Amino acid sequence: MKKLDQSFWENRWVEGNTQWDIGQVSPPLKEIIDSLEDKNIRILIPGAGGAHEVIYLWEHGLKNIFVCDWAISAFENLFQKAPDFPKDQCLVCDFFDLNIEVDLILEQTFFCAIHPSLRPKYAEKTAELLSENGVLTGLFFASNFGFEGPPFGGYKEEYIAYFELYFTIDKIEIANNSILPRQGNELSFKFVRL
Ligand SMILES: C[S@@+](CC[C@H](N)C(=O)[O-])C[C@H]1O[C@@H](n2cnc3c(N)ncnc32)[C@H](O)[C@@H]1O
Repeated sequence: MKKLDQSFWENRWVEGNTQWDIGQVSPPLKEIIDSLEDKNIRILIPGAGGAHEVIYLWEHGLKNIFVCDWAISAFENLFQKAPDFPKDQCLVCDFFDLNIEVDLILEQTFFCAIHPSLRPKYAEKTAELLSENGVLTGLFFASNFGFEGPPFGGYKEEYIAYFELYFTIDKIEIANNSILPRQGNELSFKFVRL
């Protein structure tokens, strides 16, 4: 079994072995971001990688954004494209060690990057980081991949079982605007913290 620690991910970035990176804000997340009315909410993007969503948020006037990734090389894109993004909002640490409070967490290909044995802990941690009625939203893969991850896929029923302990399941359905290679295999979800 691969050891999915900080150096595994740092090496992936250093080697440019980042096939998950779609090089732009993904359309389902763009739709979520475009629908945000309150520009002052605190937002966390865990395992943000190339941070395309962060750059989009920043350029659209949302400033209370926290970016977490434990691979420092992942931040190069953000530092280059949004040089004025505050460094104290760049959290280079293990997601599970975060100690902040936010109103919204945006998920994309971070949950599928951690080992599935950590999924119950992810559900608990996201609930811990969110304010009352805070929202966890974004995308999960909708099936298994048939090879050893990452990425690790999964199923709607499995996800609901983890998150219903801490969240009201507002929505979890196949996204209708995924990028072509992910079409039909992304669940768009919105969970509201209990
Ligand atoms: C598959 S990439 C996804 C990047 C980005 N979300 C995207 O959609 O392009 C997963 C990222 O999560 C980071 N990561 C993995 N485990 C982490 C952890 N426990 N804490 C913080 N970052 C982590 C990796 O360094 C990597 O950049």
